[in-house]
Amino acid sequence: MRKLAAGNWKMNGTAASLSEVAALLRDHPTPVCEMLLCPPATLITQMAALAKGTALHIGGQDCHAKSSGAHTGDVSASMLMDAGATHVILGHSERRTDHAETDAQVNAKAVAAIGVGLVAVVCIGETEGQRDAGQTLDVIGTQLAGSVPDGSTAATLVVAYEPVWAIGTGRTPTLQEIADVHRFIRERLTAKIGAEAAGVRLLYGGSVKPSNATEIFAVPHVDGALVGGASLKASDFGAIVAALSAA
Ligand code: 13P
Repeated sequence: MRKLAAGNWKMNGTAASLSEVAALLRDHPTPVCEMLLCPPATLITQMAALAKGTALHIGGQDCHAKSSGAHTGDVSASMLMDAGATHVILGHSERRTDHAETDAQVNAKAVAAIGVGLVAVVCIGETEGQRDAGQTLDVIGTQLAGSVPDGSTAATLVVAYEPVWAIGTGRTPTLQEIADVHRFIRERLTAKIGAEAAGVRLLYGGSVKPSNATEIFAVPHVDGALVGGASLKASDFGAIVAALSAA
């Protein structure tokens, strides 16, 4: 399995930000791990042009479940593909919160994405209240069962575990807590899609930085990271890529 360092730029970045991508490619032209950046939709075409022929993959941050039609403001999976994306993040907690996305909707989007040949990066994670109430594994199990399409394979699916309370807060679970959730995800995924689950990359996300990347990447069943804030700067994301390549 090739590990994956993925960056989610969220609603950040303009054409000027592409200089960070150029710097990343200059400093990490041939990393051992796989690299993915998911900019806002407005930058996909330009970033994909910059990444053409390099080790960097480009992804979207959401797609509609339908392929086209009267859905103002939305982008379809085939449009992402056409713009140069190879991956798409789906069911990020900010989508689930801001747009009330359900597991069923995330599943339908993942089916659409996989259907056109994109890799679906499906996000799951508990809130602080759910963790405090001891519901973490229940929540993760429900989200996983509902959001991941049947028949997913190691080539079509990546799962990102992002505890909502760790996103953008500088707080992270303990390494044991990450280990427990990732082992649980692997088990549940195996029950759902069989032997393919062994090759599905399980990413940890939530306040991953150069300073904590190495210890997180040493946790069993952590096959990479989904990085928010630290993916915006080439030096920080590059350091995370280097840490994962060395893991
Ligand atoms: P931060 O790395 O900024 O905590 O964001 C994580 C995230 O939500 C990535 O999708």
